[in-house]
Amino acid sequence: MSRRTLKLGAVLLGVGGPGQHGTWLDPGIPADASVDIRWYIARARQAEAAKFDLVFIVDSQFITENSPNHYLSRLEPLTLLSAVAVHTSNIGLVGTITTSYNEPFNVARRLSSLDHISSGRAGWNVVTSGDAGTAGNYSRDEHYDYATRYGRALEHIRVAQGLWDSYESDAFPRDKESGVFFDATKQHRLDHKGEYFSVVGPLNLERSPQGQPVIFQAGDSEEGRDLGATVGEVIFTHAATLAQARAFRTEMRERAAAKGRDPETVLTLPGIHVVIAGTDDAARAKEDALLGTKSFDRALKELGRPFGWHDFTQHDLDAPFPDIGDAGQRSFRTQANAIKKLARDNDFTLRQVVEHLTGSARSPFVGSPETVADTIQYWFDEGGFDGINITVNAPAEFALFTDRVLPILRERGVVRSEYESTTLRGNLGLPVPENRHTAARLSVPAS
Ligand SMILES: Cc1cc2nc3c(=O)[nH]c(=O)nc-3n(C[C@H](O)[C@H](O)[C@H](O)COP(=O)(O)O)c2cc1C
Repeated sequence: MSRRTLKLGAVLLGVGGPGQHGTWLDPGIPADASVDIRWYIARARQAEAAKFDLVFIVDSQFITENSPNHYLSRLEPLTLLSAVAVHTSNIGLVGTITTSYNEPFNVARRLSSLDHISSGRAGWNVVTSGDAGTAGNYSRDEHYDYATRYGRALEHIRVAQGLWDSYESDAFPRDKESGVFFDATKQHRLDHKGEYFSVVGPLNLERSPQGQPVIFQAGDSEEGRDLGATVGEVIFTHAATLAQARAFRTEMRERAAAKGRDPETVLTLPGIHVVIAGTDDAARAKEDALLGTKSFDRALKELGRPFGWHDFTQHDLDAPFPDIGDAGQRSFRTQANAIKKLARDNDFTLRQVVEHLTGSARSPFVGSPETVADTIQYWFDEGGFDGINITVNAPAEFALFTDRVLPILRERGVVRSEYESTTLRGNLGLPVPENRHTAARLSVPAS
């Protein structure tokens, strides 16, 4: 099999996600970008012109007055992507949907609709919701514990996949001459009764162009990695060093293989932060300036998020990192535990933790277009990732990547020159899942 090209994702974060406090002030960004569909359409078209594989929309459903700017007021992912779908033709459309506060029938229907509307470009970033406060918006007293979150997630995905097989691909002849609209033998109930869901089916929507939308996964805990290895086709992650990136990708491939899957069908895409200027020095200076736009007070407040929005402003900044018990164990537990360990291992005060977290945001992908292209290619060649996710804020900055870095990588054959396909699966090189009922019928020998 010839080697795949580097896969490219664009994370559309309008007026700034976590830690991006000054992003919205950029003159190139409309101050209402997070709710302006024209901004999303324009960015998706910009990414599509550069032959990106996908645009990715992050999501959460619980905010406080301290949430990142983009999170304070934003469009619902699948509604947004349906609008983007009709203004684009090749780029994949990946939306975040939580399995903790949705029913599988509803999710399967909405994603299959997006796959139809986009002619085969839908992807589902499966999350279990890190923000424990979401429970309060869904008539629950508290968020699920980890075992329940991930147990529900796996069953949820399996049910959705079962519903996507409700109709075989030739179930609708729609032949006006013979008067045959559909073939009832090609329609199948699911009759699922599990630990968390009971779903009879069938789904009231025929098989979509990709057969099943692509499953993306982004949980980092043991439970999250297990889910990714079981059903994830693309794994979103973060990577600070090449060694860390390679270890994660190797682990996910091995875990998938141990479950009987072909590791080539599990792609790892970390989010990376690129800062590009004419020279390496100029790019470093630009990164310094960007880091300087972070507000310490805002970062202190945002630190509460992984801990279930614990209020850190009540603690002495120069005392040892406070003992806040098990706050966050139902939220972003993995992240919360990593921050506690960082404080413990280094004897950090609260102030030092905040400073370390804002300062450690320095990226390995900073430099001239040649330097950034070389670094990306090196990490790719060394097995650090199958693709990258680039956060898109100011269009002019994104253009530096698409117009200055990508041509170098294209010239070297690292990224594609033309789309291979009009579907997300086709461009990612992922197989179309066979319809289970068709497969079962075909495997029965004719008598
Ligand atoms: C790259 C990346 C992107 C993520 N995007 C989202 C998101 O959009 N919405 C969300 O609720 N959680 C998101 N998460 C969080 C995870 O899905 C998960 O809920 C969280 O990390 C806590 O679970 P864990 O301890 O298994 O990591 C993301 C995580 C990563 C690594």
